[in-house]
Amino acid sequence: MSQAHFDQAAATWDADPTRMGMSKAFATAIVATVPLQAAWSAMEYGCGTATLSFLLAGKLGKITAADASPGMIEQVHRKVVAGGIANVQPRLLDLTDAPPPGERFDVIFCAMALHHVADIASLAAKFAALLLPGGWLAIADLHAEDGSFHPDVAVPHHGFEPEELAAVFAAAGLTGLAWRTVHELERHGRRYPLFLLTGRRPDVSRCDLCGDLLPCPL
Ligand SMILES: C[S@@+](CC[C@H](N)C(=O)[O-])C[C@H]1O[C@@H](n2cnc3c(N)ncnc32)[C@H](O)[C@@H]1O
Repeated sequence: MSQAHFDQAAATWDADPTRMGMSKAFATAIVATVPLQAAWSAMEYGCGTATLSFLLAGKLGKITAADASPGMIEQVHRKVVAGGIANVQPRLLDLTDAPPPGERFDVIFCAMALHHVADIASLAAKFAALLLPGGWLAIADLHAEDGSFHPDVAVPHHGFEPEELAAVFAAAGLTGLAWRTVHELERHGRRYPLFLLTGRRPDVSRCDLCGDLLPCPL
């Protein structure tokens, strides 16, 4: 699916109420799984209009809301100004063809964007490198489907088998990978289950048993 498609869709993206329901389900699942902290820096990748970032903004420090579509980023700017939400910072970014930002994040989340990226192993490695030690990754996306979710356009992945996706992120160095189905999205008269996959970059400076800085008494 091309950037032009998302640029064109951006202005009316939030008009579809099923998208807000989906983002709320992802936000609830992330809050239940990841111990978000007000001091944390976060990045939402493939943010679209950043609905998920705005839902989580009160629980985090700075959120970089990144997307490859200038039209989507323009909408995020508009919502930041309209809502006076200073800790969501829009950024035009495509990690598949641009160098990663210099900063590191306590949490990276990504909703319904991964199935638009062809080389997910490469992106997984970039996400892992962008996480601080002990940082969390949260990926929300479609369970594997028959291609009917995008009837008119080609996408590189028709959803994912969560176990296979977990193996991709494990190969990138993340640990504690776990997933569960968190929502069903209705499209074209059908229901598509969506999962949340989470994992962490290991913190090699902390004890696996007690969490204290090494060397610890254990
Ligand atoms: C289906 S939309 C999901 C948007 C939003 N996360 C949501 O849940 O409503 C996919 C988004 O991923 C973005 N995207 C696709 N490929 C990308 C890439 N390589 N880098 C960054 N963003 C990308 C698109 O511009 C689009 O905004």
